[in-house]
This record gives sequence, C-alpha cells and structure tokens, in this order.
Amino acid sequence: MFRVGDEVFGRTASGSYAEFAVARVDQIAKKPSSITYIHAAALPVAAVTAWQALFDVGQLEANQTVFIHAATGGVGGFAVQFAKWKKAYVIGTASAENADFLEMLGADEVIDYRSEKFENETSNVDLVLDTIGGETQARSWGMLKRGGMLVSIVQPPSEETAAAHGVRCMFWVSEAKNDELVQIADLVADGKVKVYVEKTLPLSEARQAQELSQGGHTRGKIVLVVP
Ligand SMILES: NC(=O)c1ccc[n+]([C@@H]2O[C@H](COP(=O)([O-])OP(=O)(O)OC[C@H]3O[C@@H](n4cnc5c(N)ncnc54)[C@H](OP(=O)(O)O)[C@@H]3O)[C@@H](O)[C@H]2O)c1
Repeated sequence: MFRVGDEVFGRTASGSYAEFAVARVDQIAKKPSSITYIHAAALPVAAVTAWQALFDVGQLEANQTVFIHAATGGVGGFAVQFAKWKKAYVIGTASAENADFLEMLGADEVIDYRSEKFENETSNVDLVLDTIGGETQARSWGMLKRGGMLVSIVQPPSEETAAAHGVRCMFWVSEAKNDELVQIADLVADGKVKVYVEKTLPLSEARQAQELSQGGHTRGKIVLVVP
C-alpha cells in the first residue's frame, strides 16, 4: 500500500512534535500532491474529529439541522464545512469578530455566544456538536428535537439528562482511520473543503503554539513546521 518515499499524512503513535515519528499504517494516508504539508497537517485531528462526530456518531443527513459550538475553531470550522457538504442546515456560534468568517465557512445562522443566549434562539435541532462542555453543554439540551443527539468531544454528557429530554448523547474521542483521511483529503484537493491555518510556527516554538492554542480563540488551526 505504501512505498518508501511516499508523501503521507495522518496521526502518529509516538506524538508528532518531532522530526521523525512512528505511525500505524491504518492511521495514515497518501497526501494528495495538490495539498501542502501544512494543510495536510491540519486534518488528522481536527477534521477527522469533526467528520466522526457528525457522521460516524451523529449520523447527520441532508436536510437535518446541526448546531455547532465554537464553529470557527479547529474542529468547528471543519464541522461547518462537512455539514454543508452533506447539505445539512448549519447553526454555529462564534464571537461577533468571527461572524463574517463563519458565514464564509457556510453557516446558515450565526449566533454570537457572547451577546446572545443561543438556547433562546434555537429549537428543533437534530444534532448538537459540543466542543466547549460545562455550562455550554448544560444549556444545549433544550435545543434538540425529541430523538435528537448531543455529541460532545470535551466532556461526557449525562445519560440521565439526555433521557429526561428524550434525546441521545455520546462522548467521542476520535481515532484517525485511513479511509476517512482519504475522503477528507479528496474534499480538500477538490476545493470542496478549505483548510484555514491561522499561524504556522517552527517546531522550536512549540511552547508558543501550545500557549496560543490554549487561549481558546484560534481561527482554524495552528501548524508546527519541522525544518
Ligand atoms: N475528543 C476528541 O477527539 C477531540 C479532538 C480534537 C479536539 N478536542 C477538544 O475539542 C475542543 C475544541 O477543539 P478545537 O481545536 O476546535 O478548539 P479551538 O480551535 O481552540 O477553538 C477556538 C474557537 O473557539 C471559539 N470559542 C471559544 N469559546 C467559545 C464559547 N464559549 N462558545 C463558542 N465558541 C467559543 C473561539 O471563537 P472566538 O475567538 O470568536 O471566541 C475560537 O474560534 C478542545 O477542548 C479540544 O481539546 C477533542
């Protein structure tokens, strides 16, 4: 399947803040030549997580409504684009500064999480993608229609609360899979999904990248470049 010298991307078993890394063959894929390494590096965690939360777990289908928290972040930005590609109706949260960016990503409705109570603006949602947890997760249940689903990638939701609302829930930790990496890379190569990288930093500045990421206001992704 792979040959020495192939350009690949994916997740590593040994961590990827490194010049060399060990990866499982089922967690890497060939990098399309039309995608840069920088864009490819943004895909295996954020895009795969968005894909699996929406489709493998959330079973999102065309014409359904999905509510995406932090829709301009790494995971959220891909989730908006994947959901629109699936022809779902997308509602996303962002701060006012990012509203235009979120519209450009394709969101049908943009809610400013700082000035509006999203739960008062929204109902009858099929799927909530929770990327924030805590109070944000707690305020999300009432937006779902009966039989809907809340998928959290940050905090296990309460089964009891889900049952009380007549909905389902799941906590999801993603794992890279070769076939999904290939599908996602093809969407990027075809220009159907765009990769937004806010900043690239050299590997030697990994600490700064980590601090920037932990600030919680990155638009898209931060990528470390190995010299
Ligand atoms: N379970 C898994 O497999 C998995 C995989 C990947 C990531 N994660 C976790 O998922 C979370 C999200 O990851 P990420 O990489 O997408 O995060 P991120 O890129 O750091 O998210 C940044 C975005 O969040 C927005 N934001 C911050 N606070 C918000 C709030 N209260 N409501 C709505 N939007 C808000 C910011 O928008 P503004 O700048 O406009 O405020 C910014 O665009 C992290 O906790 C990460 O560790 C889990």
